[in-house]
Amino acid sequence: MKVLIRTATPITAALFLAASGYSVAAADAEYGEYLSSECVTCHRTDGTQTNIPDIIGWDIKSFVSVLRAYKTRERQNKVMQTITSGLSDEDMEALAAYFASLKKAVTK
Ligand code: HEC
Repeated sequence: MKVLIRTATPITAALFLAASGYSVAAADAEYGEYLSSECVTCHRTDGTQTNIPDIIGWDIKSFVSVLRAYKTRERQNKVMQTITSGLSDEDMEALAAYFASLKKAVTK
């Protein structure tokens, strides 16, 4: 009986997720916003740049490929290599979706 209960639990969870009709894109950006707390200590979210490049409003694919390039050490930068070493593909996609959704502040 115990075995039956254990195997039933993940299936129930999967059915629940499938039925909830959650928008994948919106969920990704939300998760990305959560992850971005680590990034925004350096990168600004208003599109202005200091000596650190501005990363908002990028195309999602380019954003992910740049992060991957740091992770695989194709692109040289110690800080970004360290940061991306802990990110999964899903994390990078979520971050890309979040930063892509941000708009530059209107310049006066
Ligand atoms: C400690 C400061 C710091 C943190 C934290 C940080 N970055 Fe960076 N990031 C940099 C610097 C500096 C560069 C420029 C590196 C270079 O010259 O290649 C950079 C470059 C980038 C680039 C490429 C920009 C370009 O124009 O080519 C992206 C994309 C990026 N970071 C995303 C992120 C994301 C996403 C996070 C959070 C997961 C993050 N960064 C966290 C400092 C930081």
